[in-house]
Amino acid sequence: MEKLVITGGTALHGTIPISGAKNAALPLMCTCLLTEDKVTLENLPRLADITTLTDLLNHLGVTVTIEGGKGGMLAGRSLTFDGHTINDTVAPYDIVRKMRASILVLGPLVARMGEATVSLPGGCAIGNRPIDLHLKALEALGATIEMEQGYVRATAPGGLKGGRVRFPFVSVGATENILMAAALAKGTTTIENAAREPEIVDLAKCLNAMGARITGAGHETITVEGVEKLHGCTHAVMPDRIEAGSYAVAALMTRGDLLLEGAKAEDMQATLDTLTEAGGIVTVEDVGVRVKANGHVQGFNAVTQPFPGFATDMQAQFMALACVADGASVITEAIFENRFMHVSELTRLGANITVKGSTATVRGTKLLRGAPVMATDLRASMGLALAGLVASGETTVNRLYHLDRGYERLEEKLRSVGAKIERVAD
Ligand code: EPZ
Repeated sequence: MEKLVITGGTALHGTIPISGAKNAALPLMCTCLLTEDKVTLENLPRLADITTLTDLLNHLGVTVTIEGGKGGMLAGRSLTFDGHTINDTVAPYDIVRKMRASILVLGPLVARMGEATVSLPGGCAIGNRPIDLHLKALEALGATIEMEQGYVRATAPGGLKGGRVRFPFVSVGATENILMAAALAKGTTTIENAAREPEIVDLAKCLNAMGARITGAGHETITVEGVEKLHGCTHAVMPDRIEAGSYAVAALMTRGDLLLEGAKAEDMQATLDTLTEAGGIVTVEDVGVRVKANGHVQGFNAVTQPFPGFATDMQAQFMALACVADGASVITEAIFENRFMHVSELTRLGANITVKGSTATVRGTKLLRGAPVMATDLRASMGLALAGLVASGETTVNRLYHLDRGYERLEEKLRSVGAKIERVAD
């Protein structure tokens, strides 16, 4: 196991290159299951989750080759996914349990092969993460769904048929799964109350480049005209709006000034608005988004919502910011049922946080004191690392594998703008 050792107190100044988005890359990688041609994805981040999904795609019969990496280690990777021969339609528990986004192979597999058996992902630290919406949506397209010994089996021997999918509430993954499945269904599918995240728009862009006929991505209703076959394409993964938002918070927390190179303001407006409410100065430049502190941080309010609202994946990072703001902040987690695990760890650093149901009230304090803390999930660990950047003395963040799932070269990027941070073996 490895841990991060952070010595707080340095204002961060400089430029941080933003990597390709993990939550766009994962569904994009699954599109290779929909075609016999090759799909090349550029700007892929080097992350554990990408490796886990590559292992799963290999298991299903996809061959993955690394294209010559333009720009070397600092640029994103280009990988080519060749799904010409799918020789297995079972996604096994020992892979799926490592990453619940593995469920995104379900829709493409049943659309292309007429069947798919995927281990139930199981819950994770932030909630039990059911997949009922994924399954109901596939049934609306004519799939038969059976559950057997911890696996879900979807079959559509005659292929999927276009239909009407109406989500009772927004689900990013269910929208992605059904969008990919509908691309090869016979007839037209409408997806109502669809997720509007930028990652959905990126996925639709890639699918349309493969010959799909998708309109309305990014809006509440998406229409998909199914086609017989999809062909290959080359697609560059969008920049990671959550990574960019996380470093934007670091700029304000440490009273610094960071240029987030490659970040797109329109993908993270709610994050930028909340940073401005907290006292940050946000400017959009040609090469990215700049966030500058203006001397003090004031308390703010945030309620997590589906896009374009305040992202749940930014909640832990903003809670760290609230810990060092002047005055009180009120943060409500309205998407996941258990996404406050970072609260007890932040309290170990001296934070003053009270939780009532899904709402946390944070009373800012001038001084956080470094201490050993435990990462519990991906974004919680980033919140703890951010707190360590401002706490006096040394903070060690254990169980780094959580962070490595979603942040590429974290300590290098932070060190390059002045942070005192090391990765050491535990
Ligand atoms: C995606 O997860 C992201 N993961 C999550 O990011 C993100 O937090 C989440 O969307 C919300 O934005 C990836 O894109 C790989 P949902 P997903 O389906 O698709 C409930 C990170 O840190 N629900 O939009 O699983 C669910 O339990 C990760 O990068 C059902 O009840 O999220 C949750 O309460 C964490 N039934 C809510 O809906 C279902 O069938 C939203 O979940 C599906 C979801």
